[in-house]
Amino acid sequence: MKKRLIVPAAILMALTMTTTVLASGWKAGLAPNQNRWWYDDEDGTFAESEWRWLDGNQDGTAECYAFDREGWMYADTTTPDGYQVNRDGAWVVNGVVQTRNAEIQTQEAQATGDSRILVVYYSLPETDGTDTDSGASRVAVNGQVQGNMEYMANTISQSTSGDLFRNNTAEAYPGLHAPLVDQASKEFAENARPALSTHIDNLDNYDVIFVGYPIWWGEMPMPMYSFFEEYDFSGKTVIPFSSHGGSGFSGTINVIAGLEPGANVRRDGYTVSRDNVARDAGNLRTWVEGLNLLN
Ligand SMILES: Cc1cc2nc3c(=O)[nH]c(=O)nc-3n(C[C@H](O)[C@H](O)[C@H](O)COP(=O)(O)O)c2cc1C
Repeated sequence: MKKRLIVPAAILMALTMTTTVLASGWKAGLAPNQNRWWYDDEDGTFAESEWRWLDGNQDGTAECYAFDREGWMYADTTTPDGYQVNRDGAWVVNGVVQTRNAEIQTQEAQATGDSRILVVYYSLPETDGTDTDSGASRVAVNGQVQGNMEYMANTISQSTSGDLFRNNTAEAYPGLHAPLVDQASKEFAENARPALSTHIDNLDNYDVIFVGYPIWWGEMPMPMYSFFEEYDFSGKTVIPFSSHGGSGFSGTINVIAGLEPGANVRRDGYTVSRDNVARDAGNLRTWVEGLNLLN
């Protein structure tokens, strides 16, 4: 992260609305929303319920903006996932606007526009005994409840523009903690391979595959074994990420490397305690940037 002279983005946006920057997508609302901003993808869609790195004034530096469910940019507030944005809408940490090189951003967008990055995850948000904050298996985003791994996968997907893939089982698991723990325990004892209901049908499109999972009984959940045994990731980069209740990765990266001997399995994966998932998106984004996926 580099510091830079902060030029009020809203002023620059206003100045450039009548120039070529208009084509880049920033749009002001119509009355009574004339002081609010949204980002038009120019293809019938717009930024919504997400974070985007955008170089609004085309100065080569992108700032990070959050958009609500209706597509309005958050400004001068704390976003629902707990980050500060200034009055121009830019993400700030201790008052410093967070930036990244827009050229790299563009290259990544082009690369991922060709779907080179896939973000796979398995998530089973429990329905009891937890809340949506500390100690939780769930995170509330804009009023929607997501599993911890679902939330992390969404964050990575937004940071990389990678495609999302949810690894689902054909049979549903219990949502209640006690029966879920029992079923997971039984599956480990049986070395089960639960049948999957979702499948990647365009694996050749991807060079980089993030794979996220919760730690269950110190291991990956058995549906992740089903997943890795279904695909050969030879020649691809596999990047693990997880959440846990104290076990960290617990040796699971070595297990993945054993299941995918032809893949480049990155050892610098990301794991976070379930207690902190909801507050950790900034660290997660910083880790993604540090992976230097273009190198
Ligand atoms: C069946 C089961 C077993 C678990 N076993 C462990 C464990 O051995 N070590 C650990 O650190 N966390 C364990 N956890 C906690 C989960 O890893 C943690 O809650 C995770 O954030 C859940 O992610 P999810 O909401 O995306 O499914 C377990 C959770 C469940 C449901």
